[in-house]
Amino acid sequence: MKFSNSLFMHPRVDNKLPKRKTLEREYSGYTSYIEDVYKYGQSHVFAWWNEITPSEKKSLLDQISSINFLLIKKLFNDAVLKTTQARQGILIPPQVIAVPKHDTEKEIAERVKHIGENSLRKGEVAILTVAGGDGTRLGISGPKGTFPIAPISKKSIFQLHAEKIIAVQKRYNTRIPWYIMTSKNNDSSTQKFFKSHKFFGLDSQQVYFFTQGMLPVVDLNGNLLMDSKSNIIMSPNGHGGVLVALKEKGILNDMKNCGIKNIFFHQIDNVLIKIADPIFIGYHLKDEAEISLKVVKKCHPEEKVGIVVYSDGHLHMVEYSELSRKDMYANSEDGTLKYNAGNIAVHMINIGFLEKVYQMGESLPYHAAMKKVTCLGEDGGKIDPKENNAIKFESFIFDILKYVKKNVIMEVLREDEFSPLKNMEGENSPASSRQDMINLFGRWLQNSGVPIPTDSHGNVMGLIEISPCFALDQEELRNKVDRHLQFHGNLSL
Ligand code: UD1
Repeated sequence: MKFSNSLFMHPRVDNKLPKRKTLEREYSGYTSYIEDVYKYGQSHVFAWWNEITPSEKKSLLDQISSINFLLIKKLFNDAVLKTTQARQGILIPPQVIAVPKHDTEKEIAERVKHIGENSLRKGEVAILTVAGGDGTRLGISGPKGTFPIAPISKKSIFQLHAEKIIAVQKRYNTRIPWYIMTSKNNDSSTQKFFKSHKFFGLDSQQVYFFTQGMLPVVDLNGNLLMDSKSNIIMSPNGHGGVLVALKEKGILNDMKNCGIKNIFFHQIDNVLIKIADPIFIGYHLKDEAEISLKVVKKCHPEEKVGIVVYSDGHLHMVEYSELSRKDMYANSEDGTLKYNAGNIAVHMINIGFLEKVYQMGESLPYHAAMKKVTCLGEDGGKIDPKENNAIKFESFIFDILKYVKKNVIMEVLREDEFSPLKNMEGENSPASSRQDMINLFGRWLQNSGVPIPTDSHGNVMGLIEISPCFALDQEELRNKVDRHLQFHGNLSL
């Protein structure tokens, strides 16, 4: 990591600071927090104290009282000391259940599917969607799940997920609780969106929102950044925050009390997600796995996906930012990529396993990420940085993999199950996600006997949208669709 000068030139800011003793006297309820601010060299957060209103002062002090200054100092120091981002040690590719090709493999998958279906029927599976990220790369103002992604109807990502849950419930005559993790930055807008869309047809009682923790964002010298004269910039503490939140908010207990045994975990942004896929659930149950993961083959060595590997005798996810170039391009004997189990962030997690992890009392490590963050400069004016000026700290849920003794890693086809929305343009953008949806629906129709024209890249020529409520998969579509249907470039079912 490269470190530059602080945005805050302390000597000049120092002149504007209120006297510490005065502050402590006037706000005696906050004495220990004010002490911490000074002790850990963060007094510049009071630089505009004399300009802000009494309620802004109170809100700044409340914010300060929520910050663990010692932890931030430690995280920053760890980030400085970490000279290399690349993961050290020998990596070993894991055993993966391959996509079934032959009839016998398909028959096995069918049998395993029954196990998953039974569990769904018995109401033992909950859905957990992590949607607390700021979605900075996409650059929209609201939560990513509200993005209008469906090719024709422009339904939001949240609506597509909700309709898939409704369809699964109908198919298995069951009720599936849906837990959605948000952050303080997007919780109220997410909840408002669900209310204004009447929960997309779900019972509002089965959808549970909960927020993850937040951590301050620091500059390249470890100073807290502010985006107004009374507000410290806070950022969600990574999807690993789900682990603490599930326990602290009593959610895991709620789940257990409702008879839930396993959690189907996924990220908000994958528009092709097969929610509560019974084959995946089936393998997870059959092998009594603690955690199961779906992977795809990477589409190129530098694709921005984590890879699943064994290292030091444990299962690990190595993030794309932490994989050395040598490992990124390493080939197996057959010439294919050696580390090719790309993480699509779809997991089954056993609740008993989570409890075991809590009992160990271990917490997940934090990863530091350099970002461009708009903030206030020392003169109180906004700075829109051209280069990385900030560090965010995040924990990752998959760091619990090192505690896993039994797992299932199941390969799926990217074109059927993975198209994440990350960027506004290019790879993983609204355009590519819509095209991937259209192509999937095109294949379903073609395989059901409806001819669908494609161009030289294999992309469907035209628009197609199939609502999850009409058909959840190819099999259902084949049973429902009129074989004499003719495609004239725009079809909505
Ligand atoms: C992520 C995975 C990567 C995987 C890829 C697949 C991480 C660190 N890496 O990469 O291994 O191959 O997805 O698409 O996750 N989120 C929260 N709270 C937070 C931060 C994120 O809920 O504090 C949620 C986001 O809303 C999103 C998901 O986590 O649903 C992933 O976050 P994102 O930053 O998009 O991860 P990627 O770097 O794309």
